[in-house]
Amino acid sequence: MALNAAATPVKMIFPTFILLPRAADELEIPFVSSGGMADGRSLVASLAMGAEGMNMGTRFIATKEAPVHDNVKQALLAATELDTRLVMRPLRNTERVLTNTAVERLLEKEAALGKGIKFEDIAPEVAGVYPKVMMDGEVDSGAWSCGMVAWLDQ
Ligand SMILES: Cc1cc2nc3c(=O)[nH]c(=O)nc-3n(C[C@H](O)[C@H](O)[C@H](O)COP(=O)(O)O)c2cc1C
Repeated sequence: MALNAAATPVKMIFPTFILLPRAADELEIPFVSSGGMADGRSLVASLAMGAEGMNMGTRFIATKEAPVHDNVKQALLAATELDTRLVMRPLRNTERVLTNTAVERLLEKEAALGKGIKFEDIAPEVAGVYPKVMMDGEVDSGAWSCGMVAWLDQ
């Protein structure tokens, strides 16, 4: 079946179990799975559905070899699949992040300011955060990316 881009709702996000076999049927180039991949089970499932391999983000950050502050690894180890939030949706710049006090503050601002929100309103929670988190270990200093697969780090 050919893809019908015009009929596809722009905001639709396909679950991996739908996307991978569909990609395998449609694409003539190799592709990898990504998002929620964590271990050998993820790889076997990805290969079974037609991918050539998989990409891991969150899971690799919690490895001994990852050059990030140990506080980040401990935060991931302590997290469950319920501990992420989607932020910056009103700014059309959605990011899934590990929840913390800064993220809760950010979400309160989003709820209060609604569609009128500007980047400047949330800059304290999102700008310049990564060096503070990843290098200095200040894991509550702002919003930083984390997949729902954090729980599999345990
Ligand atoms: C710390 C961190 C930073 C990331 N930064 C970006 C980014 O700047 N832009 C982007 O498109 N994706 C970013 N991602 C998403 C990854 O590129 C990747 O798609 C995702 O982590 C894969 O899902 P997983 O974390 O469940 O393995 C980031 C992920 C993490 C964990």
